[in-house]
Amino acid sequence: MTNHSSTQFKSKSMPSQRMVAPRGRSPITYIMYEDALRGKDITGIEHLSKEELMLILKVAADLKLNKFDETQTQFAKGQTLAMLFEKPSLRTRVTFEAAMTQLGGNAIYLEGPVGARETVGDVAKNLDRWLDGIMARTFEHKTVLELAAYANIPVINGLCNREHPCQALADFQTIMENKGELAGLKLAYIGDGFNIANSLMLFASKVAMDFSIACPPGYEPSQEIWQTSLEFAKESGATMQLTHDPAEAVIGADIVYTDTWISMGQEKESQERLAAFSGFQLNSQLLAKAKPDAIAMHDLPAHRGYEITDEVMDGPQSVIFDQAENRLHAQKAVIALTL
Ligand code: CP
Ligand code: NVA
Repeated sequence: MTNHSSTQFKSKSMPSQRMVAPRGRSPITYIMYEDALRGKDITGIEHLSKEELMLILKVAADLKLNKFDETQTQFAKGQTLAMLFEKPSLRTRVTFEAAMTQLGGNAIYLEGPVGARETVGDVAKNLDRWLDGIMARTFEHKTVLELAAYANIPVINGLCNREHPCQALADFQTIMENKGELAGLKLAYIGDGFNIANSLMLFASKVAMDFSIACPPGYEPSQEIWQTSLEFAKESGATMQLTHDPAEAVIGADIVYTDTWISMGQEKESQERLAAFSGFQLNSQLLAKAKPDAIAMHDLPAHRGYEITDEVMDGPQSVIFDQAENRLHAQKAVIALTL
C-alpha cells in the first residue's frame, strides 16, 4: 500500500527554489578560516596575484551556489562596512549593502567628496576606530590609496578613475560560468581605455586570457597600465593587442565587452566623445564577427543606442544581467575573505 503523505505530495509538485544546506558541517565554512586575504586592501586588480584572484572567484562561486546556507550569516557577523560614494551608483551601492546584510553584518552609506571636511587620512583614521572595512567610490585613485594607507581595516575600491576591480571580479566569475575556464580565451573590449578596460586588461593578462582593445585614437589606456599588463602577459603567455578597428579586435573573440563612452565626471566632454566613439558601437554586425558562441558583456549602466544596441543587450548572447547579479556574489567573497 502506498502511503504518500500530503507533505510529500506537496514538495514533489511544488519544488522549493530554496537551496538547503546539507546536514552537518556547511560546505562553505572554510571561508571563515581562509586567511590568505584577511586584512588586505583591494585597491585594484593590479595588486592581486593570480592565486588571490582565483581564490576570490572560487569563494564567489561557492557563496552563489550556497546562497541560502545559514552559515553565510557568520562571515561578517557583527561587522560594519562604510560605503563612501563620491559618484552615483545603483549596482555597487545596493550589492555591497545587500552583501553585508546577507553575511550577517551591516553597511553605512556616506555620500560626497572624501577629504572635503577633513583630510582623507583623518576620515580613514576615524572609520578605522569604529568599523571593520571601507568601500570607496572615488574620482582619484590616490584617494583610495590614501584611505588604505591611513586605515588598518581593509579598503575596497568600488570604482575610481583608474580601476573597477569589483566589477572585473564579477565579470570573470560570469566568464567562468559561461566558458568553464579563463586561460586561452580571447576578450575583445570595444570603447574607452578607461577604468573598466584597465581592470579587464590587468585581469586577463594575469590569467592567460588574450586581450584585444579597440578604441578611437586619443582614448587608449594609459601607457603605464598598458605596460604593466604587457608584463603580466609576458609571464602568463597571454597576447595583448591595441587597435583602432573594432572589427579587427573582435576576430576570434570569445567575449565582446563594452562600456559607456562618457564616464562619470566626463560629462563636459560629451559632444567630442559622441563624435569620436560613433564607429565603436557593440551591435549585431560587430558581434557576428566574433566567434559564434561569443558572449556580449557590459558593466552597466548602459546607454542603449550608443555604445550598445537593444538587440545585443537583450539578445541571446548577452550575459549582461548575469554580470550584474554576480556583483553581489563576487563582493560577498571579497568581504568574507578580507574583513
Ligand atoms: N557597474 C557599476 O558599477 O554600476 P553602478 O555605477 O550602478 O554601481
Ligand atoms: N566607466 C564607467 C563605469 C561605470 C560603472 C564610469 O566610470 O562611469
